[in-house]
Amino acid sequence: TITPVLLAGGSGTRLWPVSRKSFPKQFAPLVGEESLFQASARRLHGPRYGAPLVMTNADFRFIVAEQLDQIGIAPSAILIEPAGRNTAPAILAAALTAAEQDPDAVLLVAPSDHVVPDAAAFGRAVDLGLPAATAGRIVTFGITPTRPETGYGYMEAEAAGEGPVTLKRFVEKPDAGKAAQMIAQGNFLWNAGIFLFAARTMIEAFEAHAPEYLDPVRAALAEAHADLGFLRLAPEPWERLPDRSVDYAVLEKAENLSVVRFSGHWSDLGGWDAVWRETQEAVPAERGAVTDDRSTAIDCDNVLLRSQDEGMEVVGIGLTDVMVVATKDAVLVAGMDRAQEVRQAVSALKEKG
Ligand code: GDD
Ligand code: MG
Repeated sequence: TITPVLLAGGSGTRLWPVSRKSFPKQFAPLVGEESLFQASARRLHGPRYGAPLVMTNADFRFIVAEQLDQIGIAPSAILIEPAGRNTAPAILAAALTAAEQDPDAVLLVAPSDHVVPDAAAFGRAVDLGLPAATAGRIVTFGITPTRPETGYGYMEAEAAGEGPVTLKRFVEKPDAGKAAQMIAQGNFLWNAGIFLFAARTMIEAFEAHAPEYLDPVRAALAEAHADLGFLRLAPEPWERLPDRSVDYAVLEKAENLSVVRFSGHWSDLGGWDAVWRETQEAVPAERGAVTDDRSTAIDCDNVLLRSQDEGMEVVGIGLTDVMVVATKDAVLVAGMDRAQEVRQAVSALKEKG
């Protein structure tokens, strides 16, 4: 069986003000009734999979445990990272944990903030990738790009076909010009951020491309202590780790990457523009205006009006390409094409205190 590894440690600042440090986007019901985290756990549950390993931090540990309990999924472990160091160390810690039992264990690392409605189609893509993962490849999942998105990684496939196909190149988060160039070239896919590999393969990839992670992560695991069903990694070695995503630390350098093309619907809810795009499909909207029961759009085009978490009533009249997201204590008003800048806005707010 495959061990799902759910990454649930990000703080999702681009979805402020709904996503907060204490309650980030993956735990909020953004699309549908369940949280994205619950939908992700459910997607990776069933005959193919063993109990999931969850990587998160101390702030979210009770939310994680409660949300899994609500949907009746028992984790194999919930590992607590003492500090946010991005996905590289989290993935290495998961691989080392699994390798203790079985170095050949196959892991499926998945973010917990994605929308993938067709779990069965995704399962078939996983089945396609499995032999390559067993044979020592790091299998990625590729999405056909539809716009020069700068928030994703791009992957150059060596050949056409569903796959698994060898990857020539992995480019994490290019600028808009480079992204457009790669799309025009035709053989590039978006990295879905989901990885299938044998535990030993990932450990070897770190040994080859990011060896500085090994000692601190091993030490953090060796000195970890169990606490109320959670496994707390030791803070001192963990805090020494560089803050880098697995994409930059390992994947851009690795030579044993393969890709399976996934043609089902996939979206990373990386910003309010993505939420707008997703909810537009769910609720056929008039002229691209997406509202909820506490907001009203009159004569608006390409607008997201949203009021959540006891937010006040929102009314938009004659707006174009604008997003308004209201909560009890904060309101975001931004141009639809400025969604990625919410992250900087949150940093600026933090500085103001
Ligand atoms: N446990 C843990 N610890 N999880 C983390 C941490 C951490 O320190 N940092 C981020 N995560 C989780 C996030 O919650 C999310 O579920 C996932 O890891 C990916 O992090 P993001 O911050 O959302 O990455 P991204 O969207 O900018 O980029 C990645 O995903 C894209 C597709 O969604 C990259 O892999 C891109 O190449 C890819 O295209
Ligand atoms: Mg993401």
